[in-house]
Amino acid sequence: MKIAVLPGDGIGTEIVAEAVKVLQALDLSFEMESAPVGGAAYEAHGHPLPESTLKLAQQADAVLFGAVGDWKYDKLERALRPEQAILGLRKHMGLFANFRPAICYPELVGASTLKPEVISGLDILIIRELTGDIYFGQPRGRRTAADGHFPGADEAFDTMRYSKPEIERIAHVAFQAARKRSKKVTSVDKANVLETFQFWKDVVTEVHAQYPDVELEHMYVDNAAMQLVRAPKKFDVVVTGNMFGDILSDEASMLTGSIGMLPSASLNASNQGLYEPSHGSAPDIAGKGVANPLATILSAAMMLRFSLNQAQAADRIEAAVKAVLAQGLRTPDIHSEGTTKVGTAEMGAAVVKALR
Ligand code: IPM
Ligand code: MG
Repeated sequence: MKIAVLPGDGIGTEIVAEAVKVLQALDLSFEMESAPVGGAAYEAHGHPLPESTLKLAQQADAVLFGAVGDWKYDKLERALRPEQAILGLRKHMGLFANFRPAICYPELVGASTLKPEVISGLDILIIRELTGDIYFGQPRGRRTAADGHFPGADEAFDTMRYSKPEIERIAHVAFQAARKRSKKVTSVDKANVLETFQFWKDVVTEVHAQYPDVELEHMYVDNAAMQLVRAPKKFDVVVTGNMFGDILSDEASMLTGSIGMLPSASLNASNQGLYEPSHGSAPDIAGKGVANPLATILSAAMMLRFSLNQAQAADRIEAAVKAVLAQGLRTPDIHSEGTTKVGTAEMGAAVVKALR
């Protein structure tokens, strides 16, 4: 089992180090190789996704990814910014299916800004299409407007587009995931305004005919954003496009108390995957040893389950994370009165100990 380890920037290096320790504490043999990515790779090789890093990722069974980005790179041309590394990996590896579970652990009910009764017991799965939509649609750019409201003015434009096969394959992923859960899918669109998402809705409906045992509901994205904070437990599997999924998954993270708890998996058609915490590189707390490593540790568990066929080891890690929460250990992002505040390394060590 070959794992490419790409820690990246900011807190990425600290949290990935803890996940690696957890993996090493399992009695499995992995081949792990690290490479720079994002701003770190730009510093070392002049590009956020160097050829050597991409090759390592493509040849691995799975990629364990930290986070990329730092304000200091905001002035670089877009192609050289750290975010291009993750977008490039998604595109070149064909990682079209992004799983973002949002689970509210009983111990963390108080850490959310929402009322306990709204979120306690929450367990939803957002499935975000990850390689299409306005993120990758061509053409895009800047130009002088030939028509529109202000002909002759400078303008910028992006292209929202989805092909039928792209929608079909993510719809299949969602219906199949729903079969293993409570058999309900909410497809989120903006069919009342956008051609792309009327088409999305039509294609999802068509694929649904193959899954008569699964309930399908359609919801506009603005309403979905509202329902997510109003009554999030009404959702189970949510499937949506790249941009809506980006926004809704950040919103959903807050239902769980902290974005520091949320893992994610991005898979391609051959189950090769990239696993990363849902949060970013948090440059403001980088190097301070206070970042929450649990999202990355839980991402390593998803990696074992989805790409490495080691479901038992994944269960063990998830049980160990629950155990450290039950022990009252909390990094600052999830700390509350009556619990024990710990740093990144202490939290990682506690998970390793709970594994044994
Ligand atoms: C995410 C992030 C990325 C995205 C950025 C870093 C490009 O926000 O994974 O949700 O927009 O997809
Ligand atoms: Mg995002």
